[in-house]
Amino acid sequence: MNHSKIAIGSDHGGYEYKKIIKKYLVQKDYTLIDVGTDSNESCDYPIFAKQVVAMITSKKADKGILICGTGIGMSICANKYKGIRASVCTDTFTASATRKHNDSNILCLGERVIDIDTAINIVDTWLETEFEGGRHQKRIDMIE
Ligand code: RB5
Repeated sequence: MNHSKIAIGSDHGGYEYKKIIKKYLVQKDYTLIDVGTDSNESCDYPIFAKQVVAMITSKKADKGILICGTGIGMSICANKYKGIRASVCTDTFTASATRKHNDSNILCLGERVIDIDTAINIVDTWLETEFEGGRHQKRIDMIE
């Protein structure tokens, strides 16, 4: 049984992947908090980045996933907030490395950049890889 709580959000550019990834993770016993968007209608990604950040900073969620067209707009927004380490990943190597070295707490994905199988593999890798601590903790403290 997996009890991790994941906040998930997207704009219209990431809406289809959000639906698929949410369903996939619920089947894997994760608890999902979906902050929207709820349709393909054009909307503003900073709104959803802020809401996923709020779930993490209030400790209602352990980690977050943000999806837009590229993942980049979401990461720019999320990284404005203290304590957030948001990573755009386009492959499983960076997904693993950013958990081990950066203790990444938000994963950003681009629906217009990667196919859905790659996105799912990245999500699995990112959620299952632990932070290594040690010398990496010192560097994270330096960011703050
Ligand atoms: C929306 O068209 C697009 O700009 C957005 O999803 C994202 O890619 C921004 O970084």
